[in-house]
Amino acid sequence: MTTALYPGTFDPVTKGHLDVLSRACTLFDQVVVAVSEGNNSKNTLFDAASRVRLVEENLGSYRNVSVESFSGLLVDYALKKKASVLVRGLRAVSDFEYEFQMAQMNRHLDSNLETIFLMPNEKYFYTSSQLIKQVHLFGERETDLVPENVLTALREINRSNRGEDQN
Ligand code: PNS
Repeated sequence: MTTALYPGTFDPVTKGHLDVLSRACTLFDQVVVAVSEGNNSKNTLFDAASRVRLVEENLGSYRNVSVESFSGLLVDYALKKKASVLVRGLRAVSDFEYEFQMAQMNRHLDSNLETIFLMPNEKYFYTSSQLIKQVHLFGERETDLVPENVLTALREINRSNRGEDQN
């Protein structure tokens, strides 16, 4: 039985992430979405529990996926979960340098852990959590690049930033 970890910050989860996850689910027996707690929660828009929930609410019919948050090194968490594969999404060439460095460092730390890159559908090639936050929060423009629950969460943040009641 092969367990794969799909790690990331997921701040917030996008349809690009969910596309990669759906591909991983067909390839591996068990997939654990590993949501990084990060070093400093102030660096993320959503806290770890919210980021986990926003992914969980989109699992639909997948039976072989779980979502957990983790802290510390990814290789240690992979060992704990008995995972032998790390899944990362690869979009444009610009992702490559960072992903290459991370994969090599993780291999250096644990040579039994293999990193596998999956490409999302091309319609999500330019989707990133970072850009989503800029468009939705700075610009208050909406896109269909995030699932409905994330759209709702971003709307709530905008309302609260405007000082409006959330009810
Ligand atoms: O979605 P992201 O922000 O690109 O995900 C990055 C993440 C969380 C996978 C990466 O920062 C990570 O693995 N953090 C855990 C700490 C760690 O193991 N660092 C060394 C990896 S080279």
